[in-house]
Amino acid sequence: MEEAQYLDWNNSIQILNKAYEAGLFVLIIGPKGTGKTSLVRDFAKNKNINLDSINFSLRTRESHLVGTKTLTDGTVSFDEGLLIKSMKSGDILYLDEINSAEADVLLRLDEALDDRRQIVLKESTDEVIKAKENWFVVSTINPLSHSGTKELPPQLLSRFPVRIRLEYPPENIELEIIKKYASGNHESEMIQAIKLANTLRQAAAVEELFYSPSLRETIAFAKLLDKGMAAKEVAEIIFGNVYTQWGDIEYQKVNDIITSMFGN
Ligand SMILES: Nc1ncnc2c1ncn2[C@@H]1O[C@H](COP(=O)(O)OP(=O)(O)O)[C@@H](O)[C@H]1O
Ligand SMILES: [Mg+2]
Repeated sequence: MEEAQYLDWNNSIQILNKAYEAGLFVLIIGPKGTGKTSLVRDFAKNKNINLDSINFSLRTRESHLVGTKTLTDGTVSFDEGLLIKSMKSGDILYLDEINSAEADVLLRLDEALDDRRQIVLKESTDEVIKAKENWFVVSTINPLSHSGTKELPPQLLSRFPVRIRLEYPPENIELEIIKKYASGNHESEMIQAIKLANTLRQAAAVEELFYSPSLRETIAFAKLLDKGMAAKEVAEIIFGNVYTQWGDIEYQKVNDIITSMFGN
């Protein structure tokens, strides 16, 4: 999304740096929109190392990681996947939402991530690909409450001995982050929106609501305020209307909260 300076509010960059120096792979755990991707991008940018990213889903196949045979003009060649490319180049490999992948994909990944850091290209020549010395892997998982996520097998978890928790930031920090994307002219309304977001997040955490707004929403709120819209209307558009997806009762619950915080 936007290119703003990452605010390292819980010392995550330093942990990533130490892990990198020690050659220990890192797992970042946290809900959507808490800055996981931005953190890793910022880390790679500071290190001036290329970042190869794979976003996992149920549709991700082994061939996406390892590669596929292709036939051009009667000649068979092998198109290397991102996993192989990054191992060979010693880039940083970013495995996003790794716990939404199927078990067979994870198993193949595990082969590359174990202490030997190598993988057999059974898809083509049976060549053994060995990772460059400084190859580094960072992955993210969403907490299990997120739809479509599965538990990561313990064996694979153990490949990432450094674990960083990234939660929603404290109120004052969230305000500081939002100001990187917006003018900051409407501070009291922005604080109200963060309070609203936190109320909804807490309700979602105890399953009173089905959806938890992220920093993307509080940032979007500030941007629309900058366009001259009224705070209450923006709150409805960004925070309220989405709950219609789960029916009128869910929507009305949130709308009442918005009215109580932003007036009629
Ligand atoms: N600490 C931070 N500093 C700057 N921007 C942030 C920070 N945390 C989150 N953001 C912004 O919030 C939005 C969501 O962050 P993102 O990295 O995509 O989250 P995730 O990968 O956890 O879903 C992005 O626009 C991102 O730039
Ligand atoms: Mg992300």
